[in-house]
Amino acid sequence: MTRIMIIVGSVRPGRIGLPIAHWVRERAAAAGHEVDLVDLAELNLPFMDEPEMPGKRAYTKPHTIAWSARVEQADAVLLVSPEYNHSYSPALKNALDYLQHEWAAKPVGVVSYGGASAGLRAAAALDQVLTTLGLVRVPVDMAISGPGAHLVDGAFAATEKQDATLARMIDQLGRYAEALRPLRS
Ligand SMILES: Cc1cc2nc3c(=O)[nH]c(=O)nc-3n(C[C@H](O)[C@H](O)[C@H](O)COP(=O)(O)O)c2cc1C
Repeated sequence: MTRIMIIVGSVRPGRIGLPIAHWVRERAAAAGHEVDLVDLAELNLPFMDEPEMPGKRAYTKPHTIAWSARVEQADAVLLVSPEYNHSYSPALKNALDYLQHEWAAKPVGVVSYGGASAGLRAAAALDQVLTTLGLVRVPVDMAISGPGAHLVDGAFAATEKQDATLARMIDQLGRYAEALRPLRS
C-alpha cells in the first residue's frame, strides 16, 4: 500500500482536470493504495508568500505548515496537469514552489491532457521543476488528447488503453515508492 497524493493542476470553474482526477483516484484506490486528492482550488494557497527559502523549512504561515505536513505524508505523487500555452498551470507551479525537502525522493507520475499535443509539452516543462525538487518521474507517459470528448454525464470515461496505461503508472509509483523509501527516511 502506497500513500499517493493526486494533485489537480487546474483551478478553473468547470475544469476537466477534476473528473480526470476522480478517475485516477478511483483506479489508485482500486489498486489498494491510500489516496489523498488535492484540489488546488480548495487548498487555495496564496502566491508563495514565505520570507525564507523553502529549503530552510522556516515556515511562518499556517497554510505553508499545513501544506508541508500534508505533502510529508505522501509516498508518491501523481499530477493531473492541463496544458496552458505549451506549459503547465501557475497554480501547480505555486504549490510545488512552496516546499522543497517534502518532495524529495518521491516518485511522481504526470497525467497530462490538452489539445493536439495531449499536454505533453506541459509534462516536458514540468520535468525540469520536478527534477530540481528531487522528485523522480516514473517512466510511463499518460497523455490525454481532447479529454472533453471522454466526458459522460460529467465523469471521465476512459478507453481500455487509457485504463491500462494508468494502471502501469500506478504500479510503477508503488514500486518506486518502495525502492526510494531509504532515501526518504
Ligand atoms: C489559458 C489556457 C491556455 C491553453 N493553452 C493550450 C495549449 O497551449 N495547448 C493545448 O493543447 N491546449 C491548451 N489549452 C486548452 C486546454 O488544454 C484545455 O482547455 C483543457 O481542458 C484545460 O484543462 P482544464 O479544463 O482542466 O482547465 C489552453 C487552455 C487555457 C484555459
